[in-house]
Amino acid sequence: MVGSPRKGGNVDRLVQEVLDGAEEAGFQTEKYILNEMNYSGCQGCNYCKSAEVCKLDDDLSGLLEDIREADAVVFGSPIYFYLFSGQFKLMEDRMYSFIDPQFKSRLAPGKKAVIVTSQGNPDLSAFEKAADDFAEVLRFLGFEMAGIIRMVDGGSPDAVLERKDLLDQARSVGSSL
Ligand SMILES: Cc1cc2nc3c(=O)[nH]c(=O)nc-3n(C[C@H](O)[C@H](O)[C@H](O)COP(=O)(O)O)c2cc1C
Repeated sequence: MVGSPRKGGNVDRLVQEVLDGAEEAGFQTEKYILNEMNYSGCQGCNYCKSAEVCKLDDDLSGLLEDIREADAVVFGSPIYFYLFSGQFKLMEDRMYSFIDPQFKSRLAPGKKAVIVTSQGNPDLSAFEKAADDFAEVLRFLGFEMAGIIRMVDGGSPDAVLERKDLLDQARSVGSSL
């Protein structure tokens, strides 16, 4: 999934590269552009604690179902004010439906996860924490981290086109899922 509103931007292209690699390896893939979807944030109603699914019926319903079924998920977001984008965070909160009343994950363990981020700050280490914190969430949910790909955009949505190393890394992470 892509949490950037910039279609064809850095995160979008890197996520696509991971998906292309996965397709090469025989995976069937589905790409979700969060910014083009209509959905609400978690309402904190706790319906999911007894019903096992989110009560909200919107464009995230299918995505959440696909995550439950998937062998691997690619999570992409730009860094917005030290964190992942708002579009991404609303999706993340809805993953609360994957957690049971004993605060254990309902997801089958061992799904692979890839995280992709892009940032403006030329200091690549500045926002390592955002991806690392989300990786912790994913591990808690039972995912195995297959890779974290982070880049600096130098102010350009096309910066990734100059980063053959990262495009290659993304494709190779995808094909080794
Ligand atoms: C609202 C907003 C907040 C941002 N906050 C940060 C930030 O805290 N740190 C940073 O390095 N870049 C920040 N950026 C820059 C983006 O992270 C950067 O342009 C990124 O490469 C965008 O990825 P994309 O091309 O996939 O959209 C921000 C950009 C926007 C629009």
